[in-house]
Amino acid sequence: MTRAISLHAVSKSYTRGARVVDRLSLDIRPGEFLVLLGPSGCGKSTVLRMIAGLEEIDEGELLLDGEHANDLLPADRRMAMVFQNFALYPSMTSRDNIGFPLRIEAPGDDPRPRVEATARMLGIEELLDRFPGQLSGGERQRVAMGRAIARRPTAFLMDEPLSNLDAKLRNHLRAEISGLTRTLGVTTVYVTHDQAEAMSLGDRVAVLRGGVLQQVGTPRTVYALPRNVFVAAFIGTPRINLLRGVVRAPLDGAMTISLGKQFLRLPEPLSLDHQLLRVQQGREVIVGLRSEAVRIGDRAAARPGETHITGLVEHVEFQGHEMLVHFNTGSRPAVVPDLEAPRPVPPGRRRRREGGTVLERLRGRVDALRAGPVVTVEEPDGPAEEPAPPEGRLPGDLIVRTTPDLALRHGMQVPLLVDIAHLFVFDQHGDRICPAPARLPDLEE
Ligand SMILES: Nc1ncnc2c1ncn2[C@@H]1O[C@H](COP(=O)(O)OP(=O)(O)O)[C@@H](O)[C@H]1O
Ligand SMILES: [Mg+2]
Repeated sequence: MTRAISLHAVSKSYTRGARVVDRLSLDIRPGEFLVLLGPSGCGKSTVLRMIAGLEEIDEGELLLDGEHANDLLPADRRMAMVFQNFALYPSMTSRDNIGFPLRIEAPGDDPRPRVEATARMLGIEELLDRFPGQLSGGERQRVAMGRAIARRPTAFLMDEPLSNLDAKLRNHLRAEISGLTRTLGVTTVYVTHDQAEAMSLGDRVAVLRGGVLQQVGTPRTVYALPRNVFVAAFIGTPRINLLRGVVRAPLDGAMTISLGKQFLRLPEPLSLDHQLLRVQQGREVIVGLRSEAVRIGDRAAARPGETHITGLVEHVEFQGHEMLVHFNTGSRPAVVPDLEAPRPVPPGRRRRREGGTVLERLRGRVDALRAGPVVTVEEPDGPAEEPAPPEGRLPGDLIVRTTPDLALRHGMQVPLLVDIAHLFVFDQHGDRICPAPARLPDLEE
């Protein structure tokens, strides 16, 4: 009794002309754990509510097990929602809270056996006679889960169910949710803005930005083959290093990517992906290097496929088991504007009542962020205005992970080796061009 959930070009607007979900297509397999990931305001909850039937679908189609379901009543979809605010009835015991949906669904039946079996599964038998006010946050969330499970739904829809809990409990419940949904084999759509949570939970992760699906794939794929610079930057900690570069492909010399003061030399013979970069000769690109693609090491220690540059130590973040070293390599970081959400203008303030040009400009800016290229690139007539470096220092443009025992101090010049096999290149619109994208239609590789 588990469901396949398909969205075909589904769109939604709350105010005319402003789509908060834009032609979203997604096929969720029966029993799959799919995570919807994206910054706050990107439309995740709206998608979930459309699947649940709590929000009307403006355009496009929802299919449940292959059948048109746009107009199916929420109750007939037999899905269970879990929210971050737990939503328990304060005047009911845990037992009654869990049993409530059962009593609604089958008024004649005795809900007790099902309630108790559910409580056993969740290890909350001793909480059954307490009221929500007598439970901790984590216990309340377990009871809320119990209420969702007891009905044996055909799908779980979870909207940031753990974001109100402290980190330790979150990790614990995360593991529980994962175990539970897999034991039950029920299709689960889980919404979060936390990429670490998405990566650890999902069979697949669907990344949304401004209502538009960016990519869907296994955690491994979205990390290793991000389709664009937004996905690359949203997933992974520390955040991927993104540097502005220019492709240099002279006919008679080695191919390089200039990073301003230094360059990355692409190892010969050129790989197929690097050969394809030739057409970018002279163009500005964005170079993406995850922290594991760079290590401290002398030119003489270079392995095949590694190229060397140097970096000036700006700042060292000691983390106990490792260090994050911020280097200045003389390159210019690329900016991904709406990683932390394009703070949408609240709908009430969108109207032109005050006739404010500021509002109009703000709206224009939001729209531009939504639709425009992912990355701001250098103005044609000179470099864009740089943010003032903190405390008179240049911001480090490259973060490298090292063992914690290196004696590195601010101002040291350090040799670095870049593993070119782990190099990403994105074009000016932010689309990945190296490794070359696979030509699959559904944004999956
Ligand atoms: N009922 C509503 N009326 C008007 N605008 C809404 C409503 N619900 C959500 N929005 C807007 O739609 C966008 C997406 O919201 P939401 O789906 O809640 O995003 P997320 O869950 O990713 O944070 C936001 O800009 C939000 O302000
Ligand atoms: Mg939300």
